[in-house]
Amino acid sequence: RRVAILISGGGSNMDRLLASMEGSDNARPVLVLSNRADAGGLAKASARGVPVAVVSHKDFPKDRNAFEAALHARFEAAGTDLICLAGFMRILTPGFVGKWTGRMLNIHPSLLPKYPGLDTHARALAAGEAEHGCTVHEVTSELDMGPMLGQARLSVRAGDTAETLAARVLTLEHRLYPQVLARFAAGDRRPVTIEAVD
Ligand code: GRF
Repeated sequence: RRVAILISGGGSNMDRLLASMEGSDNARPVLVLSNRADAGGLAKASARGVPVAVVSHKDFPKDRNAFEAALHARFEAAGTDLICLAGFMRILTPGFVGKWTGRMLNIHPSLLPKYPGLDTHARALAAGEAEHGCTVHEVTSELDMGPMLGQARLSVRAGDTAETLAARVLTLEHRLYPQVLARFAAGDRRPVTIEAVD
């Protein structure tokens, strides 16, 4: 599979995906694309020799379709056949998502269907959750609600803050996403589960 990774920030998940593909026969990176020119992940991708591009949503004010058409053109030009969203902070319209049904994955920092959307760690803490974690799912037009491909679970600890919890969940993301991509690219649809419960 020819994989494009979409980022908006530091790209730590992207970096683990790239590392995991270096030994893979089934997936190889063809593009890392960011909607922000200042995304730290761009340098990480370049350091691994992966082509990078920036398509800023700010260049298409109030024209989401034009922004997404620019994204789509980049993916087509790179011969992309699988998109991984990794810390990508823009919502994609159903029109765009529909073109990539079954070919676009996302990682979300909660145990979906719990806590779709933002601020997941603070919300899990506020709700007194005993467990929390992250999910990789296929992207559909309903935000954060596509078919689930893997989950990693951990125990919330006394004294956890949103920051400490986010940091522990992020290390699980780094384990989960590469495993899910490897199975998905090999056509293996068995869900990945990681139990890091204390
Ligand atoms: C993190 O909050 C992570 O939980 C979510 O995206 C954010 C940035 O991740 N998936 P990354 O370091 O850019 O991969």
